[in-house]
Amino acid sequence: MHIHATIPALRAALKNRGRVVFVPTMGNLHAGHISLMEQARAHGDTVVASIFVNRLQFGPAEDFDQYPRTFQADCEKLTAAGVDLLFAPSEADLYPEPQAYFIEPPAIQHVLDGEFRPGHFRGVATVVNKLFNCVQPQAALFGKKDYQQLMVIRNMARQLALPIDIIGGETVRAADGLALSSRNGYLSAAERAEAPRLYRLLTDIGNAIRSGQRDFAALEAQAIAELSAAGWQTDYVAVRQQADLTPPADPAAPLVALAASRLSNTRLIDNIEI
Ligand code: PAF
Repeated sequence: MHIHATIPALRAALKNRGRVVFVPTMGNLHAGHISLMEQARAHGDTVVASIFVNRLQFGPAEDFDQYPRTFQADCEKLTAAGVDLLFAPSEADLYPEPQAYFIEPPAIQHVLDGEFRPGHFRGVATVVNKLFNCVQPQAALFGKKDYQQLMVIRNMARQLALPIDIIGGETVRAADGLALSSRNGYLSAAERAEAPRLYRLLTDIGNAIRSGQRDFAALEAQAIAELSAAGWQTDYVAVRQQADLTPPADPAAPLVALAASRLSNTRLIDNIEI
C-alpha cells in the first residue's frame, strides 16, 4: 500500500488507475471500516482510503484531542485488506489556511444528531467534499451506522452533481449486537456489557412496527424510559422515513429507527432500517 500525505503526491499517484473507489475514515479502524474496504474492491479498480481526524466536525466540548490515533495499526489493517493507496494528510496539508468556504447542508443538518452536535454535518460535508476533490473517485463508501451522515453526503453529491456513486455499507456488529465504533474503546467493562441495550431497544421498536404498531411517539418514549432506567442519558430515539429522515407521514414509506444516547461520557449512536 502506498501512503501519501500531500495533495500533489496523491494526484500524481492516482494517474491511470482506472475506476477509483474511495473510503474516507478518521482512523482507529475496526471491522466495520475493513468491511467497507473489502466491499470497495467490488466497485472499482483502485481502492483509496483516507485517514484524517477532521477538526471541523467536532464541537468545542467534543473529543477531537482525545480521539484515538492509531496510525501504524491502521496501516497494517489497510494493507491486509488490500487497499492500494492511503491518503493521510496532516492538518497543514488539508487546511494550509483556515477553512473559510464551507458546504452548508440544508435543514437535515439541524435535526437528530445535528440538533445535539451543531455544525457537525457542515464540517463533515466540507471535509468530504474536499477529500472528494483530492481523490476524485468515481465511487465512495460510507457506513450506514452513521445514517444521517450517509444521507447528507448522498444529497450533497446529487445536488452538486458530483460524478461519484455514493454507496452505503451495512453496519458491522459485535456478537452481542453492539455496532462497531471507534468510540466503543472509551467504554469501561461495565459500560461495554450494558451498551448492546441500545441495539436491543431499536430491534424491539422495529419488531413492534412490523407487527402493526403505529404509535411511534409511544415506542420512542418507552425506549427512552428504559435507557434512562438503565443509567443512559438519551439525546433522541426517533422513528423516521428512510428517504429524508422526516417523521413518518406516508404509511408505505420504509422507516428507520435511530438513537443517540450516552453511557457516562461515551455517546453511542445506532439505527436499524425497518
Ligand atoms: O465517518 C467518518 O469517519 C467521518 O465523519 C468522515 C466521513 C471520514 C469525515 O471526516
